[in-house]
Amino acid sequence: MFRLLLLLLFSIPHFLRAEDNPRQVVDFTKSWKFHLGDVPGADKTAFKDDDWRSLNLPHDWSIEGDFSKDHPATPGGGALPGGIGWYRKSFEVSASDKGRLIYLDFDGVYHNSEVWINGHYLGKRPNGYISFRYELSGYLRLGKKNVISVKVDNSRQPNSRWYSGSGIYRKVSLIKVDALHIPQYGTFVTTPEVLKERAIVSMETTVLNASNEKTSIRLNTVIENGEGKKVASVWHTQAAESGKSVLFNQQTELLDPQLWSVEKPVLYKAVSYVYIGKKLTDRYETKFGIRSFKFDSKKGFILNGVPLKIQGVCNHHDLGALGSAFNWRAAERQLEILKEMGCNGLRTAHNPPAPELLELCDKMGFIVMDETFDVWKKQKNPFDYHLNWDQWHRRDLEDIIRRDRNHPSVFIWSVGNEIPEQWGDELKGDTTGRLIARQLVAIVRSLDTTRVITTANNEVNTYNNLVKSGAFDLVGYNYNHRLWEKFHEHWPGKKLIVTESTSALQTRGHYDPVPFDSIRRWPEAWDKPIKGGGNSDFTVSAYDHVSTPWGSTHEESLKALHDHPHVSGMYVWTGFDYLGEPTPYPWPARSSYFGIIDLAGFPKDVYWLYKSVWTDKPVLHLYPHWSWKAGDTIDVVAYYSQADEVELFLNGESLGLKHKIGGDMHVKWRVPFKSGHLHAVSRRQGVDVLTKNLHTAGRPAKIELTADRSNISADGKDLSFVTMKVLDDKGHIVPSADNLVQFKVSGKGFLNAADNGSPTSHERFKADNRKAFNGLALAIVQSSGSKGDIRIEASSSGLQTAELVIKAK
Ligand code: GAL
Repeated sequence: MFRLLLLLLFSIPHFLRAEDNPRQVVDFTKSWKFHLGDVPGADKTAFKDDDWRSLNLPHDWSIEGDFSKDHPATPGGGALPGGIGWYRKSFEVSASDKGRLIYLDFDGVYHNSEVWINGHYLGKRPNGYISFRYELSGYLRLGKKNVISVKVDNSRQPNSRWYSGSGIYRKVSLIKVDALHIPQYGTFVTTPEVLKERAIVSMETTVLNASNEKTSIRLNTVIENGEGKKVASVWHTQAAESGKSVLFNQQTELLDPQLWSVEKPVLYKAVSYVYIGKKLTDRYETKFGIRSFKFDSKKGFILNGVPLKIQGVCNHHDLGALGSAFNWRAAERQLEILKEMGCNGLRTAHNPPAPELLELCDKMGFIVMDETFDVWKKQKNPFDYHLNWDQWHRRDLEDIIRRDRNHPSVFIWSVGNEIPEQWGDELKGDTTGRLIARQLVAIVRSLDTTRVITTANNEVNTYNNLVKSGAFDLVGYNYNHRLWEKFHEHWPGKKLIVTESTSALQTRGHYDPVPFDSIRRWPEAWDKPIKGGGNSDFTVSAYDHVSTPWGSTHEESLKALHDHPHVSGMYVWTGFDYLGEPTPYPWPARSSYFGIIDLAGFPKDVYWLYKSVWTDKPVLHLYPHWSWKAGDTIDVVAYYSQADEVELFLNGESLGLKHKIGGDMHVKWRVPFKSGHLHAVSRRQGVDVLTKNLHTAGRPAKIELTADRSNISADGKDLSFVTMKVLDDKGHIVPSADNLVQFKVSGKGFLNAADNGSPTSHERFKADNRKAFNGLALAIVQSSGSKGDIRIEASSSGLQTAELVIKAK
């Protein structure tokens, strides 16, 4: 009986209804007012914002604008407008919230945000990638209307080397808690010992006593495993003075822990229950994972005792046509596409990501390098973060480490990318780089000793001030793939991570009919254009034969990665194309060519190169298309895996068998073009594995629509990514099609944006029409918040219209 009672007592919190949880997290993204431009008095409660635009957050106003090379962001920053914007939101706080503390959490505002509550100034946060909190209690009118005003100033540009976006581009939440509660980032869960048969979980929990009395706090931490089953529970009591916080250190042992890995990323949960006597005053969840890892100077990265190559990519934070406005599904889709290719790592170049991106990486199994800065004290752009360095870097870095240190996907902190302080003439007394490096590492270690710390360096000789500081756990190399082999000659005994590699260039679906193996390095140098000017239509051939001079082709870097066990892994620049940095071309190019996947999310051919090397799945990818002119001679390339050889046929006639030789990761045939059809078959021990066909296309005749998901959630946020293909009358894709397509979306959804992946298109993303680019375009359809059908129609003059229905459930 006693045991039953105990059990009941023990389980009470698990039956807690959300409304009985003393902590309330309110989605604060709906029904904001927005005005582009500065407005005097908009911080005042009585200000009339009736004629301002109504919108929901996250919001990025830059992505709504038109491209122009004259925007102060420059094409490097994405050639989209910046400026100043104001947001306001009216809301009520009920009288029953008396006595509660109320906070407002911003996940990210780009940038220089200033916030007022009912006309009272709460503060300024310059860093556009940082998450921050203000306390509202004290300035609120209970039972009455309250107004939050936010001024966002992205007018001083250039302040970024890539597209930043502008506005409250991540989520905002209102947090209501009891006076006795766990403050922001108040838990830290670590696993000091991880063995196959048991793990020690250690939990540091801060509880703030914001009441007027000294009190005794009881903290119960309950651990739930991957299936949500309770596996441990610990109780501790401590006295807390009024206005002070207390730190609880709890430990527990778990038997047969389910380890977090990239294949099976099991997540545990630590649920903290705070009590005064029997009264529950807070309930707070912390997800964590149990995994052990180390970096070894010879064997590279080791996860749960087994060496694992980090097969990663770098990505910027923009989500293509959605701009920087964070959307869970858009980020999830990017990670799904990457995972399918065999990618297991992500570097958040070059700034802290949206917290949800890390949640996704936790549950999908990515080895994340969480990066904080692209500059320190020395600038790269006139208005970049160097202006805020002295005043803000400590606070920003501390906040990020605290925010992200429970994520099992985060393994590496990078405190800088290609920091100018790498250089600095020591003989002239310039040791800034070393001093700052040591200071940053000390800040990180004061908050987290369970991860490794690095910087991404483009100065990889023994000269580098940051590496020479001796402060870092890993030496991060950007590029320089020929030096990976000789790493230990330069840095004896040290551990290598390739923080950034490749920077190869491609336009999806465009092929220069020059030999596949004629490798070009474009532009001539980072500050010099392409010798000879490049292609007049600003394309780059999508054969894997163009890279920047500091980079390498995809195949070159892959070989260097897999040939050397001491290379822990590499993060390819980049997984997806991103807005801004249109290397190798100037305007009219306005977004990058680096992606393995284009801006719209359509894979380029090298996607299958990675898939063939990075996964065990059988791959056969044949390219380019087969719609050429009589007289052309074309290199036909195949990436394949799980097979011994590939045979190619043109109109039924064999062009021969090929297999990979000498470490090559592709095979190729030089084929004089003849209209018709190419057929490839991969075989293993004489048995067919996969086949692939390419047809010479006729004229554009019809449209085909396919959705990545035909059932979406009716939550007002979920997305379906609809691919539009231009086909000939036989149903073969027309690889050069550029027809202008009109989208019509009706029912329970709307068209958020359209794209086609072209890095030079100046069409608006927020438009209901789009030209196809090399046969494809994309419509991003969003739930409008209620259940029912969403109907999508795509039409174009002279083409057969297509229709598609998606269900919002
Ligand atoms: C690197 C840099 C990246 C990007 C890339 C382009 O040097 O770290 O941010 O600019 O070059 O190749």
